[in-house]
Amino acid sequence: MNNHKHESGNTSLLRGVVQDLSHDGRGVLKVEGRVYFVPGALTGENITFSPRKRRRGQFSGELVSIEQSSPDRVSPKCEYFGVCGGCTLQHLSPDAQLASKESTLLDTLLKIGRVEPDKVEPRITGSVWGYRRKARPGSKLVAKKGGVLVGFREQGSSYLTSLKHCDTLDPRLSALLEPLHRLIESLSIPAKIPQIEMAAATNGVSLVIRHLDALIESDKQKLQIFAEEWSVNLYLQPGGLNSIVPLWPIEPDPLFYVLPHFDLELQFEATDFVQVNERVNEKMIIHALDALELTPDSKLLDLFCGLGNFTLPAATQCNDAIGVEADQALLDKAKMNIQRNCGKHRFNGVQFQKMDLHNDQVTALAEYAADRILLDPPRSGALDVVTHLVPLLMPEVIVYVSCNPATLARDAEILVHRHGYQLQSATAINMFPHTGHVESMAKFVKRDG
Ligand SMILES: C[S@@+](CC[C@H](N)C(=O)[O-])C[C@H]1O[C@@H](n2cnc3c(N)ncnc32)[C@H](O)[C@@H]1O
Repeated sequence: MNNHKHESGNTSLLRGVVQDLSHDGRGVLKVEGRVYFVPGALTGENITFSPRKRRRGQFSGELVSIEQSSPDRVSPKCEYFGVCGGCTLQHLSPDAQLASKESTLLDTLLKIGRVEPDKVEPRITGSVWGYRRKARPGSKLVAKKGGVLVGFREQGSSYLTSLKHCDTLDPRLSALLEPLHRLIESLSIPAKIPQIEMAAATNGVSLVIRHLDALIESDKQKLQIFAEEWSVNLYLQPGGLNSIVPLWPIEPDPLFYVLPHFDLELQFEATDFVQVNERVNEKMIIHALDALELTPDSKLLDLFCGLGNFTLPAATQCNDAIGVEADQALLDKAKMNIQRNCGKHRFNGVQFQKMDLHNDQVTALAEYAADRILLDPPRSGALDVVTHLVPLLMPEVIVYVSCNPATLARDAEILVHRHGYQLQSATAINMFPHTGHVESMAKFVKRDG
């Protein structure tokens, strides 16, 4: 590789071949012993870039030209690409994006966890546009920029990109972005609306307007007219999550999404955690339950269960499924979801329990004598579960759904090298196309003897 300095006019430019992509989609290359992060550059590309000052211990560069471009380079679809921090990978073909995430997953498992899967399963994919059913755009009054901005943060800054549309959003949500600018501008407190929570469900759309000062009567009228015109449920949030109240309709129907494969409907609220990508979510559940090898006699612990997204589908295949979760609002939804679906399914063996799973008290769950564990933790992973609970239960199969390869790899190391599990398979999941987020699944089985 011939990476070097190249004098051009007054600027000292550097040249080199990009060796890797960082988690946030920047090209990574080494020139004269120094590692640079260059936005817009792709693995394998021969580039010229202008080095920038070191910031937060990192050297970066601005892409000047591409001497040899990657065969996987595509034209970004979105006019905001490069500015908006929502997507960082639109210049890479969707297949190559997922291939790159799969490599990140496998490299991380090896480097941090010292583990390699016996098999890499076919990647789980879905539509790469219009997939996001949840979003929380910010709003800010910036007189210099002509009024209210509504959108996501810019890349590497706290400024907002003002978005008229976003093609990763469910089209029903994208269509609301521009009207929301005008709506917020028309209120008496445009500078006091920091964010809008948006959710699109099978039966409609909800918006939760966070407001830091009181709204006057005419504001409420404008909001109501907006909600009627756009047929959305509109909620107001003057304080914490408990302060949310519906404005229009006065008694909105609860949102729900369907899992057709399991003939289930799951109820949720705009502020609840739901998997953002509806179709990929269902494929992921099917894959996870297959991997768990459930039979009617299986006893499953679904840890970090949320509103029962995996628990209820699993309960259609086995008689005992116990969901455990720390968030009471989600557990309430999970219990409602049993009721909502009990006409179609018999859920005699489903239970939900509240517990902080980042705690050595997880050992109390051993009393369920489960032979299968499903884990779907937040980014911090499931260290207490794999350290304290798994050795007590030694379940036949553990399926781990992860949104952070680093913590998956850390926990995999414990499962494989401390408890003797075999990492049978790993799967990359395209939950968040065009972003740097890596979603994956890993299957661990107990070794004989
Ligand atoms: C990635 S979400 C998965 C939710 C669910 N499995 C689903 O598919 O919708 C992670 C879940 O872990 C829960 N959680 C976060 N920290 C927790 C903790 N310390 N103890 C128990 N649950 C926790 C969150 O409330 C959230 O529901």
